[in-house]
Amino acid sequence: MSYETILVEQRGAVTLITLNRPQALNALNSQVLADLIAALAAFDADDSQRCAVVTGSEKAFAAGADIKEMQSQSFADMYGHNFFAGYDRVTATRKPWIAAVNGFALGGGCELAMMADFIIAGDNAKFGQPEIKLAVTPGMGGSQRLTRAIGKAKAMEMCLTGRMMDAHEAERSGLVAKVVPAAELVDEAMKTATAIAAMAPLAALACKEMVNAAFETTLQQGVIFERRLFHGLFGTEDQKEGMAAFVEKRPGNWTGK
Ligand code: CAA
Repeated sequence: MSYETILVEQRGAVTLITLNRPQALNALNSQVLADLIAALAAFDADDSQRCAVVTGSEKAFAAGADIKEMQSQSFADMYGHNFFAGYDRVTATRKPWIAAVNGFALGGGCELAMMADFIIAGDNAKFGQPEIKLAVTPGMGGSQRLTRAIGKAKAMEMCLTGRMMDAHEAERSGLVAKVVPAAELVDEAMKTATAIAAMAPLAALACKEMVNAAFETTLQQGVIFERRLFHGLFGTEDQKEGMAAFVEKRPGNWTGK
């Protein structure tokens, strides 16, 4: 498939998706959203692919939703067309994917990164929700995901002041899983993705589902949900293989069944 605003490459079992609108610092317009939805759906549907990395350029992961596209929209346009609702299809991706962030991840860029299962940041990354400076607010989930990631005090401060947070503060605050040198970001993210891609695929899906459930449910319900998925994995061939491989001191060989 060909895309207008992203580059897609398969390296082994990992799909690398690179946002590619350098002239607009990867601002997320409707075409980027359409391309991302299509690429992530294709990744999800391809049994040879186990994990994905979404990245941008060294200067910008994405500098936000496309301000020029939104500028003249009315309330009726935005509400009537449920603007940004397409991102629900991005978050519906079932297989694990990582956001690899160098440079600016602002507004919708920060929000897209937070839709990933986790973020790996280059040491030049800058995160922020600067929408208030445009007299609007986050609109792609930032007020909710940032608050869950870093807590109310910092999320509120970031949204109300529009200030940027650097990579090290983002790591300390729990927004990113790890920080690596900017020049090594894609290689490091691909290494992590390759390690995830080597896990038993159904266990990886289940892991993602149960961690995400922690944000949607009570502790008791979440623990029950986890336990049921855990029990269910005992119906897979890979569980038999994984435990036999441990006992026999050899690597597991997964079928995804
Ligand atoms: N939308 C559209 N175009 C953008 C853009 C955006 N979010 N961010 C940057 N661009 C464009 C600029 O207009 C510029 O294009 P021209 O050369 O045609 O003028 C080009 O990208 C390069 O940008 P700058 O010249 O501004 O680059 P810089 O290095 O001087 O500054 C920056 C970089 C600080 C990131 C600055 O571009 C900036 O502040 N961008 C906007 C950040 C922002 O407000 N993001 C939030 C958007 S609203 C949103 O995302 C809503 C939501 O919740 C989903």
